[in-house]
Amino acid sequence: MKEHFLNLGKQPIANKFLYEYEIENEYFYNLSVCINLDNFLVSLCNFVPPEQMFNNEYVYHSSNSITMKKHFADISKEIKAKINPKRILEIGSNDGVFIKNFDKNQTVCVEPCGNFAKITEEAGYTTYNEFATPTLFSKLKDSYGGFDIIFSANCMCHIQNIYSTFEGICSLLWNDGIFIMEDPSLLHTLQNNAYDQFYDEHAHIFSLIAISNIAKQFDLCVYDAEKLTVHGASNRIYISKTYKNKTERLQKLLQEELNFGITYFETYRKFAKNVEKSRIQLQELLKTLKGEHVVGYGATSKSTTIYNYCGIGPDLLPYIIDTTPDKQGKLSPGTHIPVIKYEENWWKNNKYAFLGAWNYLDEIKNKEGTFINNGGKFITHVPTVQII
Ligand code: TMP
Repeated sequence: MKEHFLNLGKQPIANKFLYEYEIENEYFYNLSVCINLDNFLVSLCNFVPPEQMFNNEYVYHSSNSITMKKHFADISKEIKAKINPKRILEIGSNDGVFIKNFDKNQTVCVEPCGNFAKITEEAGYTTYNEFATPTLFSKLKDSYGGFDIIFSANCMCHIQNIYSTFEGICSLLWNDGIFIMEDPSLLHTLQNNAYDQFYDEHAHIFSLIAISNIAKQFDLCVYDAEKLTVHGASNRIYISKTYKNKTERLQKLLQEELNFGITYFETYRKFAKNVEKSRIQLQELLKTLKGEHVVGYGATSKSTTIYNYCGIGPDLLPYIIDTTPDKQGKLSPGTHIPVIKYEENWWKNNKYAFLGAWNYLDEIKNKEGTFINNGGKFITHVPTVQII
């Protein structure tokens, strides 16, 4: 049974940065969030058609961030050392930031966004430019038989029909095979009031409890998990085809979720109330700072939810600085704040920077010593609205 708990209002496609002439035809949908009380899966109540989000114009490059590059190099090294896989499938290979750490002959990539599929294909990696559907899974089964590692980072949460995907993964795993998935953590989202984790692409935000329940449904076994700091906070979940005892660290993480109340509807009701409070506080803070040269730092997909939910447009945030060339010179989705190119001396005109990219806080603090030393301050909304 699904129960609705959060309404974030009318929202555009979070990653669809646009030119002025495109405003007229901008796509909007109602962003609201539900929980399935049978397995505790938290999902958007209304999914956006995947083609609206994942197409040839998709802008999120995993390789753009130093943090993400190192993150994927580290896990690749670990997989090689511990498992030494013969055949690896990556679901959602983006620009190849993970798969490029492996031999071309061992790997198969799946990537629905044509612009990214082209990158791995041109680098010599077998790439299926398709959505992960039952049809694709049976095609992969026919061509390769199976895989000993299936890896998917920040992609399972994008897949609307999570059940058929688990079924497909189960069919493709060899008996000793392991599926490793990394996605934003529901526990962290709730604990930190990070409601901006909810946007069109995130069809689900997973708890370990929900994934364990879904895996069980397909005779798969969640046996290990670890907390990651990327994308705010994520879980890396290890799922095997044959039964394995739960590791101690997984047991601890599951207990943490239970203690927080992941399986109680009241927890979600409380979260929704805190989200509403956060909106009022952020609006008030930005209104107070009007005229004080506040800039947006990082035109993230997450910030689209914030700007649209809180009604923050160019009157409160005159522009956003960002390092991604595809976003520069465009307007932010929905509230149309100009996105400009990140320049070394951006801080000269700005006293405050609202952290759209709050999940990269450490990387940004390291980079922005001059801004900080010159009295510059960051503003964040997680876990509460504050100047830091
Ligand atoms: P995402 O959270 O949707 O992946 O978007 C991250 C955006 O933040 C991306 O467009 C790059 C931008 N960014 C900066 O502009 N400066 C930075 O230092 C970092 C870490 C990210």
